[in-house]
Amino acid sequence: MEKKNIEWSKLGFEYTKTDYRFSATWEDGEWSPGELVTSEYIQLHEGSPALHYAQQCFEGLKAQTAKDGRILLFRADLNCERMRNTSDRLSMPRVPEALFLRGVTEAVRANAAWVPPYGSGASLYIRPLLIGVGSNMGLRPAKQYEFRVIVCPVGPYYKSGGLSVISLAVSDFDRAAPQGLGDVKAGANYPGGLYATRKAQELGAYEALYLDAAQHRYIEEAGSANIVIAAKGNTLLTPKSSAILPSITRRSIMDIAKHELGMHTEERPIDLRAEIDTFEEVAACGTAAVLSPVGKLWYDGAWHHFYGKGETVGPVMQKLYDILCQIQRGERADPFGWTRAVAL
Ligand SMILES: Cc1ncc(COP(=O)(O)O)c(C=O)c1O
Repeated sequence: MEKKNIEWSKLGFEYTKTDYRFSATWEDGEWSPGELVTSEYIQLHEGSPALHYAQQCFEGLKAQTAKDGRILLFRADLNCERMRNTSDRLSMPRVPEALFLRGVTEAVRANAAWVPPYGSGASLYIRPLLIGVGSNMGLRPAKQYEFRVIVCPVGPYYKSGGLSVISLAVSDFDRAAPQGLGDVKAGANYPGGLYATRKAQELGAYEALYLDAAQHRYIEEAGSANIVIAAKGNTLLTPKSSAILPSITRRSIMDIAKHELGMHTEERPIDLRAEIDTFEEVAACGTAAVLSPVGKLWYDGAWHHFYGKGETVGPVMQKLYDILCQIQRGERADPFGWTRAVAL
């Protein structure tokens, strides 16, 4: 199979139209078998609850090419589980695991020519989407749904690229209420963040960092990534909150820290003001962000610097990044069983 003629190393995190997408529909309690389609357009009824009431959710995961040419998916079962939790919370039908995994696998396989080659630094981003469609006017769950999986080759999420240092600015705005939608991947969580991100960027930061909505005291997460913090005593900390998205990357990094690096790991509320001086290294983590060290944080009208004055990557984040990427690319034994090859 011949790869597309693309300058893989120049890719950013953008939409590229690939050849196929997977689509299945739900009506009267039944999912259709699902099929690959070529059109990138969805025809929607003007009354679709996805449009009016944001009855919509999504997922994000990546496939990477290993040295031996296999295409590896990373923990797709957890994305399926998270979409199931989101769909329950949004009163949408669950996408059965077999359908979810078949949709992901078929979309990747059919677009194998678009999967960036080994060593290119790029990967295939996979975006499963579940939307409420069909005519509806009152605030009620949709009567029909579409599950769609689209894939695009992508490069680094932050324009600094690769493993380089980013900056965050603590936002005055809230992302999610304590018992709201923050812990599920509803599209409705994101548009409010566009303004908060713009404000953060006006301060010279890459992205906003949110504090808890009730007290503006505890660290929650960045606009599209969770936070991990290396602290004294060989410890890796991460915030505990009912309002943040349970990141699959974060869960993996915490396991790597504990089992591969012998670190002490803690998930607990982290009081920014009281604890900031104890932070040795900070990073944002997610499928798109991978592990992006945070060199400086705008907070209380000043920049606070972390490891290496924000210029260089610290040793803990470097090790975590290396091990995570090596597992994802099949360069290192995968003791956790996280990767799965797509049968071509
Ligand atoms: C708000 C938010 N937090 C965290 C993450 C990271 O989650 P994951 O590691 O599962 O990609 C994402 C991206 O999916 C996100 O949108």
